[in-house]
Amino acid sequence: MSVLVVDFGAQYAQLIARRVREAHVFSEIVPATITAAEVAAKAPSAIILSGGPKSVYDSPAPSLDPAIYELALPMLGICYGAQLMARQLGGEVARTGAGEYGRTLVTRRGPSRLLDGWLDETTCWMSHGDAITVAPEGFTITASSPGAPVAAMEDDARRRYAVQFHPEVAHSEGGQALLERFLHDAAAIAPTWTNASIIEEQVAAIRARVGDAKVLCALSGGVDSAVAAALVVRAVGEQLTCVFVDTGLMRLGEGEQIETTFTEQFGVDFVHVKAQDRFFEALAGVVDPEAKRKIIGELFIREFESVARDLGAGGDGPRFLVQGTLYPDVIESGSGHAATIKSHHNVGGLPEDLAFELVEPLRTLFKDEVRRVGEELGLPEAIVWRQPFPGPGLGVRIVGEVTRERAEILRRADAVVVDEIRRAGLYRELWQSFAVLPAVRTVGVAGDGRTYAYPIVIRAVTSDDAMTADWARLPYDLVERIANRLIREVDGVNRVALDVTSKPPGTIEWE
Ligand code: XMP
Repeated sequence: MSVLVVDFGAQYAQLIARRVREAHVFSEIVPATITAAEVAAKAPSAIILSGGPKSVYDSPAPSLDPAIYELALPMLGICYGAQLMARQLGGEVARTGAGEYGRTLVTRRGPSRLLDGWLDETTCWMSHGDAITVAPEGFTITASSPGAPVAAMEDDARRRYAVQFHPEVAHSEGGQALLERFLHDAAAIAPTWTNASIIEEQVAAIRARVGDAKVLCALSGGVDSAVAAALVVRAVGEQLTCVFVDTGLMRLGEGEQIETTFTEQFGVDFVHVKAQDRFFEALAGVVDPEAKRKIIGELFIREFESVARDLGAGGDGPRFLVQGTLYPDVIESGSGHAATIKSHHNVGGLPEDLAFELVEPLRTLFKDEVRRVGEELGLPEAIVWRQPFPGPGLGVRIVGEVTRERAEILRRADAVVVDEIRRAGLYRELWQSFAVLPAVRTVGVAGDGRTYAYPIVIRAVTSDDAMTADWARLPYDLVERIANRLIREVDGVNRVALDVTSKPPGTIEWE
């Protein structure tokens, strides 16, 4: 029971897919080039056509294989998808010159399955230049707005529906209810996709895939690898070994927390590699950010590889490797028109000659779904809700040479920042909030004496996807509390600054 969301190049396709899932129906994003045969092979329960930045009059404008209409599946067209549907089924779309952008009043016209329960006038989110002017045969017009004579139309007998507005955005009143009526009522799909069903399905899939082979997982401390591992624990816990490489550049208590969770709570074989010395040695004297990243990434792989070989990988040891790949990575690498993503040295870029087969139990999930599954699996709050942390860790937050002493100062400073942000109830709201240590020293006074110590920079940003970010307007009294505590509690710090740079032009991390 799944719904295909055909992506016409709008940023809205992911949002639609998520809203469908919030209605407890599994959804999958597919490119507009999908053929009727490919759709039939996936046997979906319904199809949603997303919006898109193009006009149906552009050339080329993305289209839909007309044979898909012959599959007689329930269909919902949204914005561009609605116009395409109108045109392909014999209606008309025109450049009326009366585009609508933003909140728009939509007026109901007559009975409608989709708009059942809606008020006569409803505020919806619009974003269109062209408009449907004539509905195809078989359709009735069920709503209109000042700039869209056909704001909604339906052919209930054939279970085809189209709306010019965006039901998936929060500004559309009753938008989610409309989607749910399409899914649960018009398409008659039962709302059975839940955290419990995701877990059950993934556990069965992992068991089928892995059989009685051994499995290895590199835990980074972050939420994705932890949830992926927890699913594998549920499926084949006895066959799993988790590896945590402490680079010396982790957050305070991170390694202990992950070890306690996976050993005491889940009873898994756990290898805690204390590699700090080797990392600090390799980083001695290195100041170039890219060089630091490279050293950390390569050394991580070597450390992991050595554990894997000790465990017999490539021989009678682990054959499978768990990876926390998420759905947005899968869509982004799979569909032609998605924005370019950065390639990062990630914990997980692993040696090819060991030839692991990958187990990726989160491939179909969005981040918020991963968190809910993690909670359901019993992972602690501190892991499930942890903010993103770069693979090279504190190494890219120390500007200049990374030394053991600086890493220690930064780790303690970071813990203070995070603690105060949590107390203020802002931790989940912020995309990231952390401390940065520029390795310069400045003069200060304490008591009667002169100090000469490091500054700490407070960095806190809001963001949806890290591609862009805004500096967070932290309350001044919070900034003051953080600053006081940093100077009082963290030896080696005598000054605090606040980073008020957004991205662009800044990046979130300092290196
Ligand atoms: P920037 O600093 O480029 O960061 O704005 C965007 C997001 O990516 C994270 N980041 C990394 N993640 N390895 C990672 O796994 C890295 O080398 C790396 N560098 C940055 C950063 O924390 C932010 O969330």
